[in-house]
Amino acid sequence: MSNNSMFFKDKKIKVNTIGNCHYVIGDCISNMNEMTPKSVNTIVTSPPYNLDKKYGKYDDNRTFEEWEMLIDQTAKAAKNILKDNGSFFLNVSPIPDKKTKEIIPLDALAYFIFKRNGYALRNSIVWHFNNMQNCTNRLSGRWESILWFVKDINNYQFNLDDIRIPYITKNDKRLEGGTGRNPTDTWNFDLPESDFWYFDRVNNMTKNKLGLTEHPCIYPTPMIERIIKMTTQKGDVVLDPFLGSGTTLVAVRKQDRVGIGFELDERYSEIIEKRIINEGNTSLF
Ligand SMILES: C[S@@+](CC[C@H](N)C(=O)[O-])C[C@H]1O[C@@H](n2cnc3c(N)ncnc32)[C@H](O)[C@@H]1O
Repeated sequence: MSNNSMFFKDKKIKVNTIGNCHYVIGDCISNMNEMTPKSVNTIVTSPPYNLDKKYGKYDDNRTFEEWEMLIDQTAKAAKNILKDNGSFFLNVSPIPDKKTKEIIPLDALAYFIFKRNGYALRNSIVWHFNNMQNCTNRLSGRWESILWFVKDINNYQFNLDDIRIPYITKNDKRLEGGTGRNPTDTWNFDLPESDFWYFDRVNNMTKNKLGLTEHPCIYPTPMIERIIKMTTQKGDVVLDPFLGSGTTLVAVRKQDRVGIGFELDERYSEIIEKRIINEGNTSLF
């Protein structure tokens, strides 16, 4: 543990450090407000979805007005610390209202909040998965949104060559010597899953294998690695305000960037540390 950091104006903030990964146990809004302006290249995060998940300190059973306030405060604080060519990736999902069961498109709510705060939407990525329970009274949900916002629509990092995928057409002479194709913003059923935006959810079996049963919601590391490669260079700074079990920092370590994250509940500190050490060394992506 170190009590100062390259990230903060206030050097008294307690930062846990493992290699190039840093995290603080505490509220992300107040901590982001203490960060050096324009110091972060990319923010990637999945905030609580208001699904009454058991996160410990955070009450995930709020009104939508309260949820919108949290997202608004996050967008505001982030704007100040992102570099001028920075990006913000927000992963949210359509969720059933706890009382009426009607579906609330959190990405639509979040879009207008970010737009009001001066961001521009660059892509609305559809993350597909299949490993989820089936519904009996409506169609089974099989996707979540990743909204890619930029601070400046005319100036942002996009390293397309670093995330190209193999061409679909084989034996096409015109493609010889080409560097591969754009992975698009969704999943193509005919192609290898991992080439596009198909990533299995981290289910209970995987959680058991990795010793991660304590955290209810974990996103897939390879998906975050792609986002990091797409919008940052080696050594750039990546932030996750809602760090949870530490997936973003695992991806940061695998991709040799510098990472900083915030997590409200100190119970997750041990998992975050363990994951960065155990999973952060080699990339499969
Ligand atoms: C959906 S989870 C993130 C999971 C993460 N993507 C992962 O792969 O493990 C959201 C997390 O945000 C944390 N949280 C909620 N409010 C917070 C706040 N104000 N500051 C920091 N963390 C917060 C919760 O405790 C929870 O662990």
